[in-house]
Amino acid sequence: MNDMLVLSIETSCDETSIAVVKNGRDILSNKILSQINIHNEFGGVVPEIASRKHLEAINIVLYEALKEANVELNDIDLIASTYGPGLVGALLVGLQYAKGLSYALNKDFIGVNHIEGHISSCYLEHKDLEPPFMSLVISGGHTILLNVNDYGIYDKIAETRDDAIGEVFDKVARKLGLSYPGGPNIERFAKFGDEDAIKFPKSRFEDDTLDFSYSGIKSSVLNYINHCNLKDVELNKEDICASFQKTSVDMLIENVEKAFKRYGGKKLCIVGGVSSNNYLRNRFLSYFKDIEIYYPSKELCTDNGAMIASAAYYSFLKNGKSDYTLNVSSSVKF
Ligand code: KG4
Ligand code: ZN
Repeated sequence: MNDMLVLSIETSCDETSIAVVKNGRDILSNKILSQINIHNEFGGVVPEIASRKHLEAINIVLYEALKEANVELNDIDLIASTYGPGLVGALLVGLQYAKGLSYALNKDFIGVNHIEGHISSCYLEHKDLEPPFMSLVISGGHTILLNVNDYGIYDKIAETRDDAIGEVFDKVARKLGLSYPGGPNIERFAKFGDEDAIKFPKSRFEDDTLDFSYSGIKSSVLNYINHCNLKDVELNKEDICASFQKTSVDMLIENVEKAFKRYGGKKLCIVGGVSSNNYLRNRFLSYFKDIEIYYPSKELCTDNGAMIASAAYYSFLKNGKSDYTLNVSSSVKF
């Protein structure tokens, strides 16, 4: 089979990213323009601003991605873009841009589910990785555990019933006056804290589900901080971050362990923004001695175009191109 070059666009949240990837595995370029500094002053992503910034950036990011990959638009075989889930206005910029390019250049177009992109990020990093494996997707918008039976064939095992883990890291950080995105700041403060200092409760369900829940721990950390503030007790941010981080990771480990007992398997890929957390990585590596654990590099953990190209490649081989009638979907299910 001839080589296939995929040009992929990711604009679902606050990163404008365009990549060129060969055969779903080899990154020729992966340009990421983050808007974090712009949204920082608002304490989170402002959807309207995100869309406008994507529009301003997308031509430049495309130019940079092609230049670094040393290819021209005519060399591209397939044009891909995230169609959801994400912010509607932000998604629209990337998806419509991709359709326009595809139409103008007479190249095939394909829409990609953002979560499938995160799952595929491990293919870029670990060239020999093949399904089946279990995947834990932990990001600002998602907390999902699933079996990847084959390329594009998924069996969902569990997901959060309320907040996503990254969202809660961001909310706790905000309450502590730490800047957005909160995850890396929580991790930084936690290094100097005692993880056993404060007992935050773990969520439990009555049934035998493996689903996650992060709203309980969120409320209890926020209540703890409010309580300290009311009583004029000085906050020990390091202890709060360390204790919160430990309990959050404990909850993931407990359910993943149950999932392996229930479904079997030998490989676990942990992906999404929260998977760049070193404490979490080390906890999983030291706990699951008999399971091979894979992480993408940090750049591929958070949102990026290359992961979309990898997912696009395997989806195209299986199901072919998408129709131009494909629209964005903020909450498309996985
Ligand atoms: O995958 P991603 O870039 O976007 C979504 O699809 O949501 O993930 C962003 C999330 C944010 O909530 C951010 O706080 C979190 O990933 N994050 C982290 C760390 N780095 C990023 N959470 C914990 N520890 C980190 N080091
Ligand atoms: Zn993401």
